[in-house]
Amino acid sequence: MIFEEIRSGGCCSYLVACDETCAGVVVDPELSQIDRTLALVAKAGVRLHYVIDTHTHADHFTASRELARRLGIPRVMHRASIAPEVDVRVDDGETLIAGRLRIRALATPGHTDDSISLVLADRVLTGDTLLRGATGRTDLPTGDPEALYDSLFGKLLQLDDSLAVYPGHNYKDLPVSTIGQEKAQNPRLQKREREAFVEQMRALNIGMPDHLTEALRTNRTGGKTVAQLLSEASRRIAFVSMEELRERVESGCANLVVLDTRESDAFDGGHVPGARHVPRGQLELRIDQVLPDPTVRIVTCCEFEKISTLAADTLRTMGYVRAVALDGGMKAWREAGFPVEATAPKA
Ligand SMILES: [Fe+2]
Repeated sequence: MIFEEIRSGGCCSYLVACDETCAGVVVDPELSQIDRTLALVAKAGVRLHYVIDTHTHADHFTASRELARRLGIPRVMHRASIAPEVDVRVDDGETLIAGRLRIRALATPGHTDDSISLVLADRVLTGDTLLRGATGRTDLPTGDPEALYDSLFGKLLQLDDSLAVYPGHNYKDLPVSTIGQEKAQNPRLQKREREAFVEQMRALNIGMPDHLTEALRTNRTGGKTVAQLLSEASRRIAFVSMEELRERVESGCANLVVLDTRESDAFDGGHVPGARHVPRGQLELRIDQVLPDPTVRIVTCCEFEKISTLAADTLRTMGYVRAVALDGGMKAWREAGFPVEATAPKA
């Protein structure tokens, strides 16, 4: 079996493939690791048959939809998942086949209502139901400590003790364990009575994950993350460095229009000398008036480089074919000691 773990902070995703046939699956891919995941798949000489999410993630941005679309393969989740664009909705006990691999999906709700664990011949991918030395939390949307108790004690811990445990998170970099070891040593699994276990889960006081709302918004609806929007926009445009722009501004023959897309207060407080001003919110409606020549060379800027990237992309879409963005924002520009001018107060 080909088996690769792909880490992104505390999140773990997996490439699993049959070494006889090179057919495989990817489990819980993360968006920031999409190029690495595809590179590993190519390096391993694997042809993916499925991309699987073990549950609706609240703490990482899934790349499943993107991988499924790019590779033309089905995306798999449990049937309780409300995520759109799921091609195969598995139910408890169903098997996915890739080459000689048999991957049995066990419904293991509790962390979320759509959690599954994936059982292979010698290991089990437990998603966020069972972690090494811990369990998934049950205080996020659709979490349920009673269901987690049933999934752990009624299902996962009933599996063969020798199965290796590969969870969806490994915050402490713990080495591979087995079901038997978890049963004996995992502190949370020592509360074997339902009530005590549920009480223990309810008493956990864990901080909310970063980007919870954005992760749930995108993972549940198929919408895009802010990082995705920015990365897509930046792949469609070019940038000008701050040093390059400063030289042009200081030489007095800039031969380009600096378009500041911040709000008026920020613009008036200090901008690149000679910059024109259209706030991002008014860009589409006012740009024809401000810049009637679509062939003019434009450098967009903003405070942190994000809005200016989106603005340059919008301008390109609108036909301003020479629109580029500043590689850096006004904050960095000021900190570098580059020239700024303020708008004179109106009389
Ligand atoms: Fe999770």
